[in-house]
Amino acid sequence: MSFQVKNNVHWVGKVDWELNKFHGDEYSTHKGSTYNSYLIKEEKNVLIDTVWKPFAKEFVANLKKEINLEDIDYVVANHGEIDHSGALPELMREIPETPVICTKNGVKSLKGHYHKDWNFKVVETGGKIELGNGKSLIFVEAPMLHWPDTMFSYLTEDNILFSNDAFGQHYASEFMYNDLVDQDELYTECLKYYANILTPFSKLVLKKIEEFQSLDLPLDMICTSHGVIWRDNPIQIVEKYLEWADGYKENQITLLYDTMWNGTRVMAENIAKGIRQADAEVEVKLYNTAKSDKNDVITEVFKSKAILVGSPTINKGILTSTAAIMEEIKGLGFKEKKAAGFGTYGWSGESVDIIDDLLDKAGFELINDGLKVKWNPDQEAKKECQSFGKVLVSKI
Ligand code: FEO
Repeated sequence: MSFQVKNNVHWVGKVDWELNKFHGDEYSTHKGSTYNSYLIKEEKNVLIDTVWKPFAKEFVANLKKEINLEDIDYVVANHGEIDHSGALPELMREIPETPVICTKNGVKSLKGHYHKDWNFKVVETGGKIELGNGKSLIFVEAPMLHWPDTMFSYLTEDNILFSNDAFGQHYASEFMYNDLVDQDELYTECLKYYANILTPFSKLVLKKIEEFQSLDLPLDMICTSHGVIWRDNPIQIVEKYLEWADGYKENQITLLYDTMWNGTRVMAENIAKGIRQADAEVEVKLYNTAKSDKNDVITEVFKSKAILVGSPTINKGILTSTAAIMEEIKGLGFKEKKAAGFGTYGWSGESVDIIDDLLDKAGFELINDGLKVKWNPDQEAKKECQSFGKVLVSKI
């Protein structure tokens, strides 16, 4: 599969319908993904990024149908992660002298992965190559969006931003354009992608978008490295990023719990009942973290103004799914969100204190010391949970 994107720009990537886990097993991809590679054929021919390693041979074989590999003047590596650079060894074996354009950090990551001394040409922000026909490719470094090596490339005259991971989604489609796919699915995957990958870099997202806007470059398309190409009102995803990067929250409270004999689940349900009694407008969602997709849960955390985290005490600690989701939450560095802990116990009862400590270290504002219930909640304890929920509403 290949197709013309605009004028002399062609998509030569791979749609991966089978992918259901990404980054090892860290990121669920319910809708598959794509690895987008672009071939610009002007007086100079440029390949922007490649595909994930398992598709390297297929990629190079398909590329040969589009162009004599010797005619490629430059290979641009906007980012060194394997899903985009994975076919470079296969490609560079055939054209070892062809310049590989990347950032200084790009050289480090590409050498680190492949241990090859390709003909690297380092570029910085403002660097450009002339492609002929009055067009040039301008480079903009975008460190930590989401790796130190990341950069964007901008094609003048066609007004296309090749943004690599930014503005992307793990979303397989044969349509490949934002206006042709299911809009709800697209929004869901964009939000999940931002929440799970870009949240830690939100300050840099805001800064980079402001910097790019100050260049006042016309923008007709954003060609990302995953998912669809933004051709219909491409600025819409930039505006969403500005919103998501700026302490995003909806009117939602999410309860994340794990449970052994349902005591902590009963607590969660009664806390939720109390919240709903106090505020009929707020959306309340409950997830058993041992039974839920963690990336979907993270997306719900991203949307929430507050989270409540519950686990019973086991072996003076907390259940493993609670520990795991808190590790993920801590790493993502959510901002401007409130939280509280809860859980049942039989004798020692450490779980809530441990959860409070984890929430505090993860940057959440603790609403109170949390709620502990001994043994299985009885009617009185259920009422206490409801009151706890009601009080929380007044403090969120
Ligand atoms: Fe899609 Fe950071 O690689």
